[in-house]
Formats: sequence, C-alpha cells, structure tokens
Amino acid sequence: MDFFKIVEERHSMRAFASKAVEEEKLNRILEIVNRAPSAGNLQGYEIFVVRQAEQKQALVEAAYDQQFIAEAPVVLIFCANPSRSAVRYRERGESLYSVQDATIACTYAMLAATALGLSSVWVGAFDEQAVRQAVDIPADLVPVAMLPIGYAGKSPRRTSRRPLQDIVHER
Ligand SMILES: Cc1cc2nc3c(=O)[nH]c(=O)nc-3n(C[C@H](O)[C@H](O)[C@H](O)COP(=O)(O)O)c2cc1C
Repeated sequence: MDFFKIVEERHSMRAFASKAVEEEKLNRILEIVNRAPSAGNLQGYEIFVVRQAEQKQALVEAAYDQQFIAEAPVVLIFCANPSRSAVRYRERGESLYSVQDATIACTYAMLAATALGLSSVWVGAFDEQAVRQAVDIPADLVPVAMLPIGYAGKSPRRTSRRPLQDIVHER
C-alpha cells in the first residue's frame, strides 16, 4: 500500500473480530519495527508480545478497564529501556531518548499493521506497575505504550485534526 494511503487509512480501532492475526503478519510488523530509527542506533526499547487471555484481562484492568484490549488477538507492549540509552547519553538518554525510541517503534508497528490490513489502537492510559505485573516485565523497563492489534470489529471513525496553520509556526 502507498505510504500516504496507509496514513489516511489508519484509524484507532476499539473493537476487534475474533479472527487471529497470522504469524507471518506479526513477524512482518516486528521486522519493520526493527528498522525504526533510534538515538545512536541503541534501540533503547523492548517489546513484549501478549496473546494469553488471562494476561490480556490483566492488561484491561491495568488500563482502567479498557475492555477492547482483551478482544485483540495480540497486544504489543512497548517499553523504554532507559539503561540502554544511558550508556551513551546519560540523563537525556535515560529520561528522553529511550521513551522516544519506544514511541517511534510503536508508531512503526501501527503503520505496518495498517499496511497489512490490520487495525490497532495506541493505549497510553494505564498504571505502569500494574502492566509490569500483568506480564512479568522487569522493573528497570518503563511501559510506554500498548498496541492491541487485530482485524477490525467495526467500521473505523475518521477523526478531525487541528488546522495546520494552528500547529505550524513559521519563524
Ligand atoms: C500517547 C497516546 C495515548 C493514547 N491513549 C489511548 C488510550 O489509553 N485509550 C484509547 O482508547 N485511545 C488512546 N489513544 C488513541 C487516541 O485517542 C487517538 O489516536 C486519537 O483520538 C486520534 O484518533 P485516530 O487514531 O483514529 O486518528 C492514545 C493515543 C496516543 C498517541
């Protein structure tokens, strides 16, 4: 799919069909994520792949009852790995670059999912510690975003945006 079409066709999906996500598609998504840029190419993030119903239910609770998380066949959890980025960039790597690395990785995953005919939604509202506990994530990693992925369970809704002139500031 053309890049511009992918971006136009990506919408947050909060209802998923029961159809499984093919392993080849999931692997393609993860391979594309691995092409994402990162500060100093240190790739200061880790990804956890969650498929088990019980774990997904624990993620629902960690995310303040966002039920659609459990509907998705697979949930990716993107975590910053601050110590990886700190090796070269110290405080800035620890507090900023590792979070940016994880964020860019999640963005790549979202767009790759769309290109493969899948849907997703970025989930940022959750209790970090509860997410760690739900899927046994080490304490030194910071969960930054969860991405439930699956086939759409309903038609997507196109959201509005701020006018560009409000966002872009010429200097
Ligand atoms: C940092 C971030 C956190 C978000 N957290 C949530 C969330 O916890 N739950 C949710 O349903 N959507 C969440 N979203 C999705 C946004 O609501 C959505 O992207 C926005 O409304 C624009 O809609 P669109 O993605 O369909 O273009 C989040 C998005 C971002 C980028």
